Amino acid sequence: MRRIAFINEKGGTCKTTLCVNMGAWLARRREKRVLVVDLDTQGHAGKALGVDVRGLTPTVKDFLLGVATPEEVVRSTAVPRLDLLPANKDLASFPVEVAPHQDRTEKLRTAIDALPPDRWDMVLFDAPPSISLVTENVLRAAREIVLPVALTYLALDGCAEIMQSLARLRAERGEAPGVTLIVPALYRKTQLADEIMARLRERFPDALARTMLGWSVKVDEAQSHGLTIFEHAPSSSGAHALAALADELLERAPAAEAKEEGQEQGAAAEG
Ligand SMILES: Nc1ncnc2c1ncn2[C@@H]1O[C@H](COP(=O)(O)OP(=O)(O)OP(=O)(O)O)[C@@H](O)[C@H]1O
Ligand SMILES: [Mg+2]
Repeated sequence: MRRIAFINEKGGTCKTTLCVNMGAWLARRREKRVLVVDLDTQGHAGKALGVDVRGLTPTVKDFLLGVATPEEVVRSTAVPRLDLLPANKDLASFPVEVAPHQDRTEKLRTAIDALPPDRWDMVLFDAPPSISLVTENVLRAAREIVLPVALTYLALDGCAEIMQSLARLRAERGEAPGVTLIVPALYRKTQLADEIMARLRERFPDALARTMLGWSVKVDEAQSHGLTIFEHAPSSSGAHALAALADELLERAPAAEAKEEGQEQGAAAEG
């Protein structure tokens, strides 16, 4: 079961859009069994999948606290094989509730470890836009990262911050998830966007996706209707890009796993 976090501490970088739509493509067209785990109090992953999350109970908070089983919390969606673990404002009290617990940064990892091992092929975490206890949990539960970078002048900052968080985690625990895919998002042809792309290509030649998600009103519209882009505008440029990105993620699976095994072997040899 791949565990992939869509994360960037900057807000509005298309984390939710990529998580939900790439998940939908992989479930519907590539027949993967996908679980989207919403970890944002905004509940946008649920909303983007047409689920009314306001006042919903139980939610991901109950899953994290171990007071609800996956069967109780997970909901199916209109997309075949795509399930959702929903979030809403309830999640806001999570940091306070677990503050006295020593394992407060491990709650998500523990809960995911306890999922039935053969139920899903991929778990996709939609992370919140902040450095918080929830983000810490996501970084510890994920094995891979998809890092969406909005091509604005702050794009490289967002990248640098997440790389620092990963380096810190690696120093603290001896392991951290690998960056499988860096996705250039909200691309519009400007000199600045092209310069940022050139810098990204230079700094992250392996992880940088071949496909960019361009700015497209259809993507925004789909989200506001609670539909995936493949239902709302299947022949739009946004749909083509999101499908291609999902396939890139799938294609990179063996490489990421091989690297992980290699690292483990390396660590074993050193130990
Ligand atoms: N390719 C696109 N073209 C135009 N608008 C887009 C595109 N992708 C996403 N959007 C819109 O941009 C906004 C932010 O996208 P999204 O919610 O995916 O970002 P996010 O990183 O999850 O945000 P947050 O940090 O608040 O969680 C949304 O309104 C979304 O519909
Ligand atoms: Mg979001």
